[in-house]
Amino acid sequence: MGKVAIIYWSGSGNTEAMAAEVANGVKEAGGEPVLLFADPEKHQELEMAGCDAVAFGCPAMGAEELEDTVFLPVYEACRPKLGGKKVAFFGSYGWGDGEWMRTWEDQAKDAGIILACDSVLCNEAPDEEGVAACRALGKTLV
Ligand SMILES: Cc1cc2nc3c(=O)[nH]c(=O)nc-3n(C[C@H](O)[C@H](O)[C@H](O)COP(=O)(O)O)c2cc1C
Repeated sequence: MGKVAIIYWSGSGNTEAMAAEVANGVKEAGGEPVLLFADPEKHQELEMAGCDAVAFGCPAMGAEELEDTVFLPVYEACRPKLGGKKVAFFGSYGWGDGEWMRTWEDQAKDAGIILACDSVLCNEAPDEEGVAACRALGKTLV
């Protein structure tokens, strides 16, 4: 009970900092975080399948898109195995308005995924409020 996969990609460390705070929230709630930097070679969907919940983290890349060489293939491998798990999204963005996250949420909804809580977005590095939001997201998933 309470094993939470945190599968993320980060190029310059901001989403990675968020992932670490999600993990702290999981621990604070008595759960066990499994932090996984997305790697399509590692069959992380199998590791995720053994967890009760999963938080996916990816920054806005491309033109309001998910990072598509590493994160997207891992997310797509996980997507058919999400049944019965709590799922949440987080990520950092720069100059945009969060459009990448709205698109990601809409596509998830179309795929039948019900998110356990509001997604957490941070502009660049997480500030104090962002840290608290990431921890709360982690707690929700335990
Ligand atoms: C190649 C590239 C594309 C990006 N595209 C967007 C974008 O479409 N919208 C946006 O708001 N920020 C964009 N950004 C900014 C990043 O989302 C932002 O710097 C974020 O904090 C990076 O997170 P990370 O440190 O976890 O890699 C882009 C950054 C890079 C390097």
